[in-house]
Amino acid sequence: MGIIELLQHRRSVRRFEHKPVKKEKIDRILQAALLSPSSKGTRPWEFVLVEDRRKLAELSECKPHGSSFLADAAFGVVVIADTKTATALVEDTSIASLVMQLASEEEGLGSCWIQVRGRGSDKAESAAAHVRQVLSIPDDYEVEAVIAGGYPAEKEGPYDLNQLLWDKVHKDRFGDAYPKV
Ligand SMILES: Cc1cc2nc3c(=O)[nH]c(=O)nc-3n(C[C@H](O)[C@H](O)[C@H](O)COP(=O)(O)O)c2cc1C
Repeated sequence: MGIIELLQHRRSVRRFEHKPVKKEKIDRILQAALLSPSSKGTRPWEFVLVEDRRKLAELSECKPHGSSFLADAAFGVVVIADTKTATALVEDTSIASLVMQLASEEEGLGSCWIQVRGRGSDKAESAAAHVRQVLSIPDDYEVEAVIAGGYPAEKEGPYDLNQLLWDKVHKDRFGDAYPKV
């Protein structure tokens, strides 16, 4: 599958089959993450692969909305960053997160990004504090996101190339249209 087709077919998956994912597939997703570019080559990201069902359930409660489906995912990759070395922490971890979503798609798996950084929790603590406590993440690492993954039980259809928002692309100066493909 070429990159455009891959991007067209990647849709967020929030319902997963109860079917384990082979280690080789997870290895390739993590390989992809470790190949991600980072600011000044600092590679500040680190990843916690979670397959333990009890921990997935605990992590799914990190915030009141948009994370409950993690309890039924085959795995979650928790994306964290070392604040001691990072120079563009949000960007570096975001790139690695998206790369894992694309690699998941290529492996025939579904995925969904669960935002952690800057999100609250239904308890007094933040989503990041909750994740930090569940996984014993040290204080000098920031928790960015969790990528939930597994075989999709439900998935939206691919994006239509004829519906792309070409009016968001400008040519030579803001406001001048780029000729639509
Ligand atoms: C930075 C970011 C944060 C997101 N956070 C969540 C989230 O916390 N929970 C969730 O269910 N989906 C989350 N998503 C998924 C988006 O809702 C989804 O990508 C968007 O609706 C477009 O749908 P698509 O992924 O099928 O193209 C997030 C996506 C991004 C890029």
